[in-house]
Amino acid sequence: MKILFIGDIVGKPGRELIRKGLPGLADRLEVDLVIANAENAAAGFGVTKDIGDALLESGVHVMTSGNHIWAKKDVIEYIGGEPRLLRPANYPAGVPGRGSYVAQTGDGRAVGVINVMGRVFMQSIDDPFTVVLKEIEAMRGRTKVIVVDFHAEATSEKVAMGWYLDGKVTLVVGTHTHVQTADERILPNGTAYITDAGMTGPHDSIIGMEREPSLARFLNGMPSRYEPATGNPRLNGVVIEADDKTGRALAISRVSYSEKDLAAMAHEEADQVKA
Ligand SMILES: [Fe+2]
Ligand SMILES: [Fe+2]
Repeated sequence: MKILFIGDIVGKPGRELIRKGLPGLADRLEVDLVIANAENAAAGFGVTKDIGDALLESGVHVMTSGNHIWAKKDVIEYIGGEPRLLRPANYPAGVPGRGSYVAQTGDGRAVGVINVMGRVFMQSIDDPFTVVLKEIEAMRGRTKVIVVDFHAEATSEKVAMGWYLDGKVTLVVGTHTHVQTADERILPNGTAYITDAGMTGPHDSIIGMEREPSLARFLNGMPSRYEPATGNPRLNGVVIEADDKTGRALAISRVSYSEKDLAAMAHEEADQVKA
């Protein structure tokens, strides 16, 4: 089966790429399931019910998140009733929402999705390494194909998670830095790995935000208000191919599409339907 994982969707420019481009892209790539990190979908910080529902409507099957998940107040109610929106599984017991979900492809094949968050240069929550194993064990009987979104800052912690889970899951994909890395590979025991899937949002920016106020923080050390940027929106992510029976990854490739690339694919799909 083929799975598309989409890196952090940032603000309206990111959402528009998904709304206009995802249906054509998913057809073109012939993917069976789409997973997207939605932690920055609402103006760069958090996600709301309206926004989450719209992403699901556009063809995202499961949404993962990270440190920004709690930014919008209405998410607490939304995440309680929407199992397809995940928060990191290693938040302490009693926190609303869940950190894993077993999705079904259109033809009824199961895919497990787990979201955990790193602790290096981030808020220190429960141990992601211990928690992720528990989550994997809990879904093992239901699916061989398992995707782990490891939302973390430090490349060392992310690479460590890749090796830790090699042979235990199908894909370990990093999110959070918003910069796509070029280290995608299949580890020796069959787990596909990439340190960061990148960002689905405005790339003429500082990790999704307007350059001026972000740069000002570095120049003068004073607080300034981050505003989501708009320029040069691109959809970033990875596509993997997996063996359903073993759960091993067979291939992983990075993707990065402009609005124009996505529009061309959408038109091709429409032409094929007409023909
Ligand atoms: Fe993010
Ligand atoms: Fe993040």
